[in-house]
Amino acid sequence: MRKIHLIANWKANPKELSDAKRLALGFKGGLMKARFTDVALAVPHPFLFSVGEVLGKSERCRIAAQDVSPVNEGAHTGSVTASMLKSLGVREVIVGHSERRAQGLTDEGVRIRVEKILKSGLTVVLCVGERERDTHGAYLKTIESQLLTALKNVQKSKSGRLIVAYEPVWAIGEDAQSADTPAGFREVAIYIRKVLSGPFGPQAALTIPVLYGGSVTPENAGTFLSEGHASCLLVGRASLLATSFRSIIEEAERVGVTSTRTR
Ligand code: 13P
Repeated sequence: MRKIHLIANWKANPKELSDAKRLALGFKGGLMKARFTDVALAVPHPFLFSVGEVLGKSERCRIAAQDVSPVNEGAHTGSVTASMLKSLGVREVIVGHSERRAQGLTDEGVRIRVEKILKSGLTVVLCVGERERDTHGAYLKTIESQLLTALKNVQKSKSGRLIVAYEPVWAIGEDAQSADTPAGFREVAIYIRKVLSGPFGPQAALTIPVLYGGSVTPENAGTFLSEGHASCLLVGRASLLATSFRSIIEEAERVGVTSTRTR
């Protein structure tokens, strides 16, 4: 049976905890009848505990973090460590998002965070993606170097706790030119798997989920999952409205049913 994983990245939203709890409740309701889909809500750190309480122990819908500090516990004012996130019930941590990279996060900074996340027993959602898509394929080199630096010291045995998120920067946010196409994503996903086969071997490279993120909407979610063969989706703006995210869940369920029938 095909399992579809959706990650909602709320970014710095919503403004208040009460809105976050209401939104989380709406998501939980949307998953009541889901058979194929599960969801991780990547909420701002201050909301993690309360949103986790709203979601309860559901395996279908759980909390995720949007980033982590590159340090262990100690004298690091303002830092949030991977162990702290784990103790709140977080299972997945997004790392290397382009919005963090734009604020100075380097490939080396991503690598250290990946190390901390894996050491704490959590799953890494590693974001990679180019700023611009050139016609000579130079963008593939950017993706390769982001991947290889971030995963430099990761042991093969840890590959089961890796998710790679392809998020082309030009496709993200309100100012995006457009989303990528399912065919465009598919090509890049094949390339990402080829790069992953270097450090992790061909078998793991095929099983590490490669997801798409960048202007995912209820209208295009189904085609990224079916034609694009995306393992999962990372959803930004469209995850800030319970109704639109519920429609994405419905699309995922439709793809799940179709994939099961055609096997
Ligand atoms: P949008 O879906 O708002 O384009 O955001 C994508 C994203 O950055 C998800 O992490």
